[in-house]
Amino acid sequence: MIKEPQIPMFDLILSLSTAMDLVSSAVVNHHKQVAYIASSIGAELGLPSEQQNELVLAGALHDIGALSLKDRIDTLQFEAEKPHHHAECGYLLLKMFEPLSSVAALVRFHHVPWSEGGGSEFKGKQVPMGSHLLHLADRVAVLVTKQQEVLGQVKRVCESVVEHSGKMFMPEQVDAFMSLATKEYFWLGIASPSIGSILPGRVRLATIELGIKGLLSLAKLFSQIIDFRSRFTATHSSGVAASAESLARFIGFSERECQMMKIAGYLHDLGKLAVPAEILDKPAKLTEDEFNIIKSHTFYTYSILETISDLDVINAWASFHHESLDGKGYPFHHKGEDLPLGSQIMAVADVFTAITEDRPYRKGMTSDRALQVLQQMADNSALDSSIISLLRLHFDEVNSFRRAAQAASGEEYQQFLRPEG
Ligand SMILES: [Fe+2]
Ligand SMILES: [Fe+2]
Ligand SMILES: [Fe+2]
Repeated sequence: MIKEPQIPMFDLILSLSTAMDLVSSAVVNHHKQVAYIASSIGAELGLPSEQQNELVLAGALHDIGALSLKDRIDTLQFEAEKPHHHAECGYLLLKMFEPLSSVAALVRFHHVPWSEGGGSEFKGKQVPMGSHLLHLADRVAVLVTKQQEVLGQVKRVCESVVEHSGKMFMPEQVDAFMSLATKEYFWLGIASPSIGSILPGRVRLATIELGIKGLLSLAKLFSQIIDFRSRFTATHSSGVAASAESLARFIGFSERECQMMKIAGYLHDLGKLAVPAEILDKPAKLTEDEFNIIKSHTFYTYSILETISDLDVINAWASFHHESLDGKGYPFHHKGEDLPLGSQIMAVADVFTAITEDRPYRKGMTSDRALQVLQQMADNSALDSSIISLLRLHFDEVNSFRRAAQAASGEEYQQFLRPEG
């Protein structure tokens, strides 16, 4: 019997932030830099540690609503043209996970200018002070370039911040920033390539551990952040999660293991965050380079989840879904006995979902055709034949379970595309 995992929530969220910043060298470490700067200014202002923790999380997630690489790059302009759309999208995603609801509120207004006090409200809604702090931290991170040694940039960055005090930034927060700016360690931290290992030491993060239930809802949020980037696969992970859970139940997994399969299904394509949405969405044939970039996604799922303690079983079930029983899969070329049963179930769930789900450019396969394709893969020793036999036996139950899950997340996707108000 596998014990219930206890997953540190902060670590998992920082890993999501790492994944998002792998998408281009232009944004590497950006989220962590903003987390570091915002919480440092928060500490300088003497904010309670609870608020500092929120600033770390909001910093680590603030551009989560910028779904394409173009949107991400656009946010790096000091005075971006239409900055509020990605902030609103980020808010809509984050508010679905209850423990992050206050963080969602900070993210929502992270581009609202202070406007000599007028920025305490935006479109009739109260803007939290933390949003203004996040704004300042984000713009400082954008002003620091990778092209030049950091201490030589301090004067220029400070001048720019002071110039925008009052109009863009809250003067009180600018003062706190300026007193921090006299200390070299602050800047060396921002520019450090290993900011990811500095950050947890610099901030006293509360340890919030997630059991199965908490992990399930956070993993579901992750799945939407992964899937909503491409309209082709907007509900894919929820279909894989449901299929994997259902197959595991028919195979005789315990209820806890079935929930773990579901979590692994939500996370299986986590590494796709490192793939620009422009490639995922490309209507034409992919070049060899683009195909290789897509292929790297399971490696990133594995290496990102590997850093989190107690997640090893779920990681193996999630990350080996393109491995094959005959060792011809990728990227590890595990075979037979090296592939846990959960990973083999995930591989079946992934193919099954991919071929039966409707996509904007084609209908899903009929059950006969889908079973033929899966059987062929089992005959070629790519998938496990006993799992395929079981799927054949319970095809309608597994398929309707998958379909219901994808219909529900399809509705959530529509709401996300057309926010009310
Ligand atoms: Fe932003
Ligand atoms: Fe940003
Ligand atoms: Fe995949």
